[in-house]
Amino acid sequence: MSEKELNPRILGIESSCDETSAAILKGFEVESHIVYSQMIHKKYGGVVPELASRAHEHAISQVVHSAFERAKLTPNDIDAIAVTYGPGLMGALLVGLNYAKGFALAQNIPFISVNHIEAHLYAPMLEFPELEPPFLCLLVSGGHTMLVDVKGIKDFRILGTTRDDAAGESFDKTARLLKIGYPGGPVIDTLSDSGDPKAVKFPRSLLEPDSLDFSFSGMKTAVLNYVKKYPDPNDQDKANIAASFQEAVVDVLKEKVRRAIVATGHKQVIIAGGVAANRRLRSELKSMADNMGIDLFYPPLEYCTDNAAMIAATGVMYYRKGWFADLEIGAVPNLKL
Ligand code: KG4
Ligand code: ZN
Repeated sequence: MSEKELNPRILGIESSCDETSAAILKGFEVESHIVYSQMIHKKYGGVVPELASRAHEHAISQVVHSAFERAKLTPNDIDAIAVTYGPGLMGALLVGLNYAKGFALAQNIPFISVNHIEAHLYAPMLEFPELEPPFLCLLVSGGHTMLVDVKGIKDFRILGTTRDDAAGESFDKTARLLKIGYPGGPVIDTLSDSGDPKAVKFPRSLLEPDSLDFSFSGMKTAVLNYVKKYPDPNDQDKANIAASFQEAVVDVLKEKVRRAIVATGHKQVIIAGGVAANRRLRSELKSMADNMGIDLFYPPLEYCTDNAAMIAATGVMYYRKGWFADLEIGAVPNLKL
């Protein structure tokens, strides 16, 4: 393999939800990484699709321009472009996809279409380039909660998934109930520092003894009932509810990871997706992994939530295999892993 085949320089673009992001990678080395988080959704307590597409359109050229500026490179230095084509919001996806197609055509370079969920699985490789499958992945984001047996690149088996809400969604909904802000995950993470995780006993739904599936709707209902029963919580009450809720989610995720390790015999575990940024989850999984003699990897915070560096990293792996896409490919909002 030539140096370029092994370590291509890839421009990655991500616009599936409310982050407009561009990154330039040379192999797994990040030369620049820009994330523009759309603040406009904050006042609605959730992402408004129409506003998201408009904000992406407004931001994308500038975000890509900044990525080039920061890396001190020009479009002529790029070997291929990688872009998210699903899952996500149709209008939002189209902005990035069309931009990337235009770029590929203008530069006459290969075009790589990336599944956003798959890219989350590889995000830890940005920090640990030597990390290779097989590994077990706990993917916990705003839209997805799953345990995946990753045997190789594009070779995986879903071991368990959520039967109702995603883990991140349950953080967001709880934060909305407590009226403490959006997105809920980071707010609950921080607020929990000053709360007592044992203050409220929220249910831990573990399903059947050998099940690797998840269910978070019961927990959400329990928070709702609690807030109805004790209305007008003060700041300390809110911190206690947040910490207790976080503890319940972390307990469930930990138990499911433990079961999956036992069931598969994997020695390497990674956590990925926005909720992998949660500090309590990280520390609890780390102590469990240490006790079980397992290596635990998680991406740096900036690569946990939606970002283009993980899209470009997936692009690097596809480039090495010569897996390029047709410019005819469309956006697929409900794309599966
Ligand atoms: O991966 P991501 O950026 O977007 C999706 O593809 O869904 O994940 C966003 C989710 C949100 O639900 C957000 O509340 C959650 O990740 N999140 C967190 C933390 N940071 C982000 N959840 C818990 N603790 C955090 N520190
Ligand atoms: Zn995501």
